Amino acid sequence: MENRFEHLREEIVKRIKESLTVEDIELIRNNYLSKKGILSQEMAKMRDLSPEERPLFGKVINEIKGLVEELLITRLTEIKDKVLLEKMGSEKIDVTIPGDSIRIGSIHPLMQVIEDLEDFFIAQGFEVKEGPEVESDYYNFEMMNFEKGHPARDMQDTFYIDAETLLRTHTSPVQARVMLEKKGDSVKIICPGKTYRRDEDDPTHSHQFMQIEGLVIDKDISFANLKDTLLKMVRHLFGNDREIRMRPSYFPFVEPGVEVDVVYTKDDGTKGYIEVLGAGLVHPNVLKMGGYDPKKFSGFAFGIGVERIAILKYGIEDIRNFYTNDMRFLNQFKGDLS
Ligand code: PHE
Repeated sequence: MENRFEHLREEIVKRIKESLTVEDIELIRNNYLSKKGILSQEMAKMRDLSPEERPLFGKVINEIKGLVEELLITRLTEIKDKVLLEKMGSEKIDVTIPGDSIRIGSIHPLMQVIEDLEDFFIAQGFEVKEGPEVESDYYNFEMMNFEKGHPARDMQDTFYIDAETLLRTHTSPVQARVMLEKKGDSVKIICPGKTYRRDEDDPTHSHQFMQIEGLVIDKDISFANLKDTLLKMVRHLFGNDREIRMRPSYFPFVEPGVEVDVVYTKDDGTKGYIEVLGAGLVHPNVLKMGGYDPKKFSGFAFGIGVERIAILKYGIEDIRNFYTNDMRFLNQFKGDLS
């Protein structure tokens, strides 16, 4: 038996050595290793042997199989390398053929506004904080002073995962989380990110939108600090001669609350006002729930709609453009990516 296999092994090794093409290799593999191949046929003969002879017989054939498999792979790699080298030697590169143009992506206009405002606020000592878009009712509403059944919840209806879990309606829950994290230390943050509300999509409404909210808590924060920050921001965005107008408004988490308009001059010379954000002094209940004593600490908060800023800055007519990934729209915002 030994001799017969010795002979078979030598024969295969020789054939592999002499093989020259990928097809040769396939042929050898078929011939010896396939289901009907010679080695499988040999294996089948085991049935005729006595139980004592079988283990050794099987072992020898398996060893040959392993060896052949290994040699075939090595030889195949050698053949492929050789073919490649020959090909490279014989082909010349034609440098006059025009190259493929590479499509370079660009930063989405909403992200451009966010990045610009992040730079602006970071320069003034704000930290940028982010948080989950799937939020608990507790952080999104309760900690912002909307108790269960509060009428102001109607304006912020959203998508519910279950009774206590929802897609956040504003980035205020990040503020709630940061207040708890800071454990009574002063806070100076902005929270950019995606937010959601149950809205019918049309040119001015989207069920998904972006916000940047800001929160400052410290010992002596007054309305003057809020106004100063907002005026600087509006001037950064829309030009140094801009004025703002504040109108009283209601948000459960601030007292007093305001809506802020940017003032512009209409064609006929009269003044026009465009609402850009909501703001106010942090409500004492919100401070308390966040772990701050309202007698010692005060704060201001504001919330900007990023789409609104982008619409004003770039003269965009339909808010849905931001979300439909039309390259004709997006290509207009390529700008300088460096
Ligand atoms: N969270 C408010 C909203 O989404 C925005 C806001 C923030 C208003 C802070 C006032 C103060 O409607």
